[in-house]
Amino acid sequence: MTLSSTTPRPLIAGNWKMNGLSAALDEARAVAAGLDRQPAAARVAVFPPATLLHRLAQAVEGSFVLVGGQDCHHKASGANTGDISAEMVADAGGKLVICGHSERRTDHGETSPQVAGKAEAALAAGLEPIICVGETLDLRQSGQAVAFVVNQVRESLPLSLAGQAFNVAYEPLWAIGTGHTASIDNIVEMHAAIRAELISLFGEQGRGVPILYGGSVKPENAREILAAPDVGGALVGGASLKAKDFLAIVEAA
Ligand code: PGA
Repeated sequence: MTLSSTTPRPLIAGNWKMNGLSAALDEARAVAAGLDRQPAAARVAVFPPATLLHRLAQAVEGSFVLVGGQDCHHKASGANTGDISAEMVADAGGKLVICGHSERRTDHGETSPQVAGKAEAALAAGLEPIICVGETLDLRQSGQAVAFVVNQVRESLPLSLAGQAFNVAYEPLWAIGTGHTASIDNIVEMHAAIRAELISLFGEQGRGVPILYGGSVKPENAREILAAPDVGGALVGGASLKAKDFLAIVEAA
């Protein structure tokens, strides 16, 4: 997938995490139906658990909803019990994949170099990666947030992303699932720092890479966040589980 020369539309990505049984396919159908009635200014993607990926891709086929995986292994195949490869995500109907979500980094010890390997695997399978970065509350409070996140960007983004479509998501850990969003000033400062690093790594291409914000994005705060400079979309957890809330966020883009 190559990058278009125009500024990409914002990406509103719904990360269902470890939520969703068969009945949840109806929520995805409702998102698809909502977008068919009122085509959005944004690109819209849903990231269901792996067990629903294929069925959800089929359920929204032909609609504006893109589907993606929440993670992929850095290897193409092998003895890796419980993991799924980027090619498997693509085979199930995924077009995108989240790499290095903080819950993967924290709960599964994923390091930035490993995340870079996942992004490489995503590209090899023709998937568009969303590479996540973000600081802990300790780092924020000790004034090291920007330096830490910029370093995560440097270590988590392989240079093979040059010329390819990809996204970065800034998700401060203390804002995920807590109801606390970063202030607009915090978001603007961090996105500007990430933008500068993207330009230093990828030159002109770095200017157009969407930088998503994630962390307690809801219908009530989406408009202000999405209007902030250098915010190229949102990675939405809890509020993506109900079609009504998710569509309201899409509407705000
Ligand atoms: P949240 O999750 O919207 O529930 O805070 C965001 C994320 O982890 O992607």
